[in-house]
Amino acid sequence: MLVSATEMLNKARDGKYAVGQFNINNLEWTKAVLLTAQKLNSPVILGVSEGAGKYMTGFKTVAAMVKAMDEGLGITVPVALHLDHGTYDGCYKCIKAGFTSIMFDGSHFPIDENVAKTTELVHVAHGLGLSIEAEVGAIGGEEDGVIGKGECADPAECKLIADLGVDFLAAGIGNIHGVYPANWEGLSFETLAEVNKAVGAMPLVLHGGTGIPDDQITKAISLGVAKINVNTECQLVFAEATRGYVEAGKDKQGKGFDPRKLLAPGFDAICAKVEEKMTLFGSVGKA
Ligand code: 13P
Repeated sequence: MLVSATEMLNKARDGKYAVGQFNINNLEWTKAVLLTAQKLNSPVILGVSEGAGKYMTGFKTVAAMVKAMDEGLGITVPVALHLDHGTYDGCYKCIKAGFTSIMFDGSHFPIDENVAKTTELVHVAHGLGLSIEAEVGAIGGEEDGVIGKGECADPAECKLIADLGVDFLAAGIGNIHGVYPANWEGLSFETLAEVNKAVGAMPLVLHGGTGIPDDQITKAISLGVAKINVNTECQLVFAEATRGYVEAGKDKQGKGFDPRKLLAPGFDAICAKVEEKMTLFGSVGKA
């Protein structure tokens, strides 16, 4: 069932658990995430970066595929189709394509411009029943060409953006996209606690979910994080499982080269990773 992410995230914030946003790249990814959410009776958010949207031949294709797959698989748990790190133009494209949620990443604009553009998009998104996420304090690392330094957000700026009416807020707390370097200092819970206090009951979003130790995830949820984004970790397990299949020569046995067979270990690995994360985040049985 395709829905906006507002209700599922407000419930998660109240119930002290988090809903996973799993970024999708193709049919296998989408099917793996949807079937796992249904199996575990968990709400879920499908994240689509602008790069992944382009790869899948445009947001229109993505929305059509997700809608049809949701129906075709008989998915009854709440599913939000969400633009990840959207540009101003990208947000409008997704709204038109039929996404149910958008993120406007105005963190690189001067604050006045971020405020003006966010205000406009909140108005448009809410008028059409979509949810909207905003970001304060760049998330570090690189994702699909979007590069951020990994700052800690200013709580006063978070309050300013939250008060514009966004539904959930991503605040940088030392998190980065991709694999964390060995010398990473961990999440700044001091910043998270201050942001949480500043924004009241607003669900907070933790980007860069890959590789954050379980105890830090649990602590972040206790401090208001209700949405956690995971992308790289699914890519890593998919690649590893596919490599295992090929290195074992299975593509050369019988019809092992059939893409449905070749991609099956990677598909299974994504299902297992999503199940592990949903269990850790506490969203199992919360649909
Ligand atoms: P990771 O790739 O580090 O899991 O980050 C995902 C993310 O934050 C998507 O916005």
